[in-house]
Amino acid sequence: MAAVMIPLRPRPPFSLHDANTVTSAAALAQHYADLNAYYTWTRYYNLAYPGFDDISHAELAPLLTGQLLNNIGDPYDGGHGHDHTKDHEQEVVNYLADLFHAPASRWGYVTGGTSEGTDHALHDARLAFPDETPVVFASCAAHYSVGKAVNRHRLTLVQICTDETGRMDIGDLRAQLGRFRHRPAVVVATVGTTLTEAYDDVADIANVCDSLAISRRRIHVDAALSALPLALLADHDRPAVDFRAGATSIVTSGHKFLSTLTPCAALIYAQPPNAARTPAVPYTGTRDTTISGSRSGHTPLLLFSSLASRGTAGHRLRAEKSREIAADIVEKLRCAGWPAERGPHGFTVVFDQPPQTVLDKWVLGPDGRRVRIVCKPNTDPAAIDELIHDLKAAANGARVIPVPRPRHRPPVGLIAAEVTA
Ligand SMILES: Cc1ncc(COP(=O)(O)O)c(C=O)c1O
Repeated sequence: MAAVMIPLRPRPPFSLHDANTVTSAAALAQHYADLNAYYTWTRYYNLAYPGFDDISHAELAPLLTGQLLNNIGDPYDGGHGHDHTKDHEQEVVNYLADLFHAPASRWGYVTGGTSEGTDHALHDARLAFPDETPVVFASCAAHYSVGKAVNRHRLTLVQICTDETGRMDIGDLRAQLGRFRHRPAVVVATVGTTLTEAYDDVADIANVCDSLAISRRRIHVDAALSALPLALLADHDRPAVDFRAGATSIVTSGHKFLSTLTPCAALIYAQPPNAARTPAVPYTGTRDTTISGSRSGHTPLLLFSSLASRGTAGHRLRAEKSREIAADIVEKLRCAGWPAERGPHGFTVVFDQPPQTVLDKWVLGPDGRRVRIVCKPNTDPAAIDELIHDLKAAANGARVIPVPRPRHRPPVGLIAAEVTA
């Protein structure tokens, strides 16, 4: 039985219905300080979710907190308003498009997240083949957002087997494509699967389509985590996962590797999507080419800030550092008797799911069989040592007793309960 301290997330200090009577600036300031302390404390335990947070954007504070910025509608025309950041948005899209070897005809925008990018790509495939419903092929390790978009656009999904590393099985893809070769095909390749960070081989996917003479096709790449880190590898190491390999669209998250600290993603097409042919909406003065109408003007600035502040070389170093940390953790876990794995070029360390006592304390993204640590340049070595201590203790059937860590004590007043598991 392990004692695990669960801090209580600070709830609103009063109901908004009572705000007129009880609001005080001091109470609100204290509440926001408590929230900040809570999130700082819990971050230590969050090892599984790949939201990088080593780049912050303090210099953007006046723009983020004092300006309404709305990139409504099409990313390439400003429309009637002046309060947008579409120049920065285009800069970000172009920079990433170059890294991913997109042709000059590229088109893209900053979405609210990777799911939105996949939704846009599947909708565009639906529009591209109006007379016949396309069949979507995605591996069993694809993110759940693919199935969601398939349902929304009333497409058909065929799941493709993966190999033991989580990579799409190209033999199975060939067999399934063959069954549906009379229908337009959309293959969704995952580059950085959610559990093991495996990447599907886009060049192989394109070759299989060619060999089956499937010309009515799309290859959408869901590269939420891995597009940029893989693109920054030396050419001889770089896997074939981008436009040069045959992708028709790629989406990658801003709040994962690029540390935008708020959800967003960049969606890039090799050719403008069908929606780009629609006329402008008179009231906004811009075409309605994106999924939502109003769009954040802050997230393109955050992406711009991340890319501008580190540059290509700085991001390459961040990726290398994350990989080094991951390799080190694999070794440490193995030495501690927990066999751990990491894919080629991966930041993600995967190992067998530990007992519930460990899961109560650490956020490890369990899938019922395995768990993971997604390494970042600032992954705290103290947290890893403490986790390994807990794993050893759990393996010995001992209580998992938190190691004293004054730096990471929960903020005063936030300990809700000692939960025994
Ligand atoms: C491979 C993959 N695709 C899509 C997503 C969904 O991204 P978002 O939450 O930004 O919509 C994730 C999120 O973890 C992911 O790992």
